[in-house]
Amino acid sequence: MPSPTERSLVLLKPDAVRRGLLGEILGRFERKGLVVEAMELRTMDATLADQHYADHVEKAFYPPLKEFMTSGPLVALVLAGDEVIEVVRAMIGSTDGRKAAAGTIRGDFALSNRENLVHASDSPESAGRELALWFPKL
Ligand code: PPS
Repeated sequence: MPSPTERSLVLLKPDAVRRGLLGEILGRFERKGLVVEAMELRTMDATLADQHYADHVEKAFYPPLKEFMTSGPLVALVLAGDEVIEVVRAMIGSTDGRKAAAGTIRGDFALSNRENLVHASDSPESAGRELALWFPKL
């Protein structure tokens, strides 16, 4: 059973910053009732990218993903709420914006599986690892 209040690590990716979609995306999370426990404008460097995407570093899509994720500032968030990990994943939609359902963030605003606006932890295990990496003092 998930704990009554969970935390998720969410990144509003460099395309969200460049496209001026931070308010739109953050507003959706706030209106849903999720709580912003921490928020920072950060730029991912190569080391942090390799740590954050440890499960993907050997995959063919990793070099362009790394180039994109280190290409400019992003917003790192800690969101909290009941079953927040599952709730946020449902709100952002499937990886490929071309296939994500309308009404989801990627479905409404993205046309790519790389520039897809948002990263969110996909399990309690990955949330624990990612939160420790991005917000070690929390
Ligand atoms: S997997 O292999 O099913 O676990 O991958 P997936 O969950 O679909 O995606 C993991 C992250 O990789 C990004 N991605 C890509 N980047 C660049 N090019 C291609 N082709 C590509 N395919 C997937 C995807 O946006 C995911 O990023 P995060 O930050 O986890 O959302």
